[in-house]
Amino acid sequence: MTTEPSLPSLPSLPSLPSLLISELNTPTVWPASAVLAPGGDIAVAGVGLAELADRYGTPVYVLDEDEVRARARAWRRALPGAEVVYAAKAFLCRAVVDWIEQEGLGLDVCSAGELRLAAGRGFPPERIVLHGNAKSPQDLSTALRLGVGRIVIDSACETARIAAQMPGPEPQRVMVRVLPGIEAGAHPKIRTGTEGQKFGLSIADGSAADTVDRILGQPRLELVGLHCHLGSQIAEAEPYAEAVRRLVAFLAAIRDRHGVMLPELNLGGGFAVAYLPGDPAPAPSVYGELITRTLASACAEHGLPAPALTVEPGRSIMAPAGIALYRVLSVKRGAGGVFVAVDGGMSDNPRPALYGARYTVRRVGRTSTAPMRTATVVGRHCEAGDVLAGPVELPEDIRPGDVLAAPAAGAYQVSMASGYNMTGRPPVVAVSKGGSRLLVRRESFEDLAARDIGL
Ligand code: LLP
Repeated sequence: MTTEPSLPSLPSLPSLPSLLISELNTPTVWPASAVLAPGGDIAVAGVGLAELADRYGTPVYVLDEDEVRARARAWRRALPGAEVVYAAKAFLCRAVVDWIEQEGLGLDVCSAGELRLAAGRGFPPERIVLHGNAKSPQDLSTALRLGVGRIVIDSACETARIAAQMPGPEPQRVMVRVLPGIEAGAHPKIRTGTEGQKFGLSIADGSAADTVDRILGQPRLELVGLHCHLGSQIAEAEPYAEAVRRLVAFLAAIRDRHGVMLPELNLGGGFAVAYLPGDPAPAPSVYGELITRTLASACAEHGLPAPALTVEPGRSIMAPAGIALYRVLSVKRGAGGVFVAVDGGMSDNPRPALYGARYTVRRVGRTSTAPMRTATVVGRHCEAGDVLAGPVELPEDIRPGDVLAAPAAGAYQVSMASGYNMTGRPPVVAVSKGGSRLLVRRESFEDLAARDIGL
């Protein structure tokens, strides 16, 4: 891994108490450490964003390490006694594996790749949960070899497959992913708690119960509980309460049928963050309180001891800690409005094109008295749908060379980045306590060309 020397801290920042986060006018979308800095810049963790753009080039993703850690801790505080498992798909690299491990969280992985990255840093395998609606032979063999804590079974055929591959006599702990039949989540493509999509085993049609029967009849597997994941970007706590009620009722049905009390309940992730100022984004404690209360009352109602709880936040921990920095390449003013084109786009952030996700941007590193005008920030890729943000307000004198900062960029952007147009995936830089360091380097043409081995 290439490591850049730390940037010096900005000594002027502490003397700018008046330029606090509230003056950014967008208090919910920036990391807590963000402050206005001289020259129209924003400093995150004491490091100027425009300076980072100059130093590391653009596009670049900046990750506030302390924000990630604080959010991980907030989840642990919100559900004392529960397991908090970070969903690696939001964004994973070796440093993030370490932060998550140090903060005492578990890790949700869904491929041999994510698993190997975590194992390579010595992440305790018993704190890892393996997911996937279609786990490959390699996913399963890697998980079994490393001894992951839980494998979440998502289809009937997995039961025998896992049992057949067990390397030793110790039974593998598994859970069943059930479909509670709850509609929640910001977009149909990320709603996974409803019938009629590829995930989970339906409680309603009996397939969850069939799979439970099958696993309980399989001595090489130890069924420890139920899992569900309702969807993503869920901005209310109530769907989780409903999931608790339905899953506890199912736990009671399993007890009645088999005489076993499954000791664990995993409610998945999906907790919302603010992408635009004012977007609803309940604190972890809001979800935590309702979940805890509902679990106690549902268990009392069914005469069950409370199972150990797990949640799997991904976006909620990572998105608000990330900022994407782009440089403006062209500005087009015409009948269709103002198009500000930047040096990234749908290859580093496919979320607007995939889910209609909305973002805000801010120019950093230059001040002017120009009035604000409505504009659309577009990418450099060969599609009209390659829009990053809009409508947004930008100074009228926006011009090529200006740097734009797009907050709430930490989750599902770098992890979903593609090789489209061979532009290369952007680097990821961590900032903390006035310093910066490169976590993931930029993908070069040589990286791309190295895979092209046939003629
Ligand atoms: N647990 C399971 C089993 C999951 O499938 C997911 C996300 C999570 C936890 C974490 O969900 P989160 O807390 O991050 O919402 N690419 C989409 C999001 C897809 C989420 C897939 N599963 C997006 O950019 O909005």
